[in-house]
Amino acid sequence: MAILLLHQGVYGQTRRICEFLRNELAALGVAADVAALADPPDPSRYDAIAIGASIRNGKHNPAVLEFVRRHRALFDAKPNAFFSVNLVARKPEKNTVATNPYLKAFLDRSPWQPTRVAVFAGNLDYRRYGAMDRNIIRFIMWITKGPTDPHTKIEYTNWDEVRRFAGELAQLGAPGAKAVVGAAVPRAVPAVPAHAA
Ligand SMILES: Cc1cc2nc3c(=O)[nH]c(=O)nc-3n(C[C@H](O)[C@H](O)[C@H](O)COP(=O)(O)O)c2cc1C
Repeated sequence: MAILLLHQGVYGQTRRICEFLRNELAALGVAADVAALADPPDPSRYDAIAIGASIRNGKHNPAVLEFVRRHRALFDAKPNAFFSVNLVARKPEKNTVATNPYLKAFLDRSPWQPTRVAVFAGNLDYRRYGAMDRNIIRFIMWITKGPTDPHTKIEYTNWDEVRRFAGELAQLGAPGAKAVVGAAVPRAVPAVPAHAA
């Protein structure tokens, strides 16, 4: 059993979460490789595929669904997973699959219904952003009543939740995993084959 963990992000937090998942999976005896979604190894070599993507200006990068579309036969046949990384998820009332607005919107509109889904709070580090990005995030933080001090550096990611998700990913290879749609999330994900909608 080998899992491919693909990240689509900008400032490295989604990659860090993938690397943490890989280490946790290794501890569980499951091999996993981490790669950028933009530069993946051959996905057909893996038993399961997970994609993590961060939110930028209210959206996941369209490259996520383009990748799934391009490898449609693989995603139809193999267990797969998706996780979203965003700062709205720092709020306890917005950090589940059922309550995170970005993940909900993604799943509502996506023809791809992943076998497993998760959402994690991301990283806020104003000093790393260029002027434009810093202003955008400060505005988002101001709207959502978060820190706007341009020296703020807070990692909101709950690594215990990421560890739990690694446990779910480790189950992807189990018999019948592809059919256990939505079991890991407090949200009824329709049990339709990918791309049926
Ligand atoms: C330019 C920019 C725009 C962002 N827009 C949003 C947003 O609309 N909503 C949100 O919750 N988080 C937003 N974020 C926060 C990121 O999702 C968060 O920092 C995440 O950790 C980024 O992961 P990455 O480093 O893998 O890209 C934004 C971040 C940046 C840099």
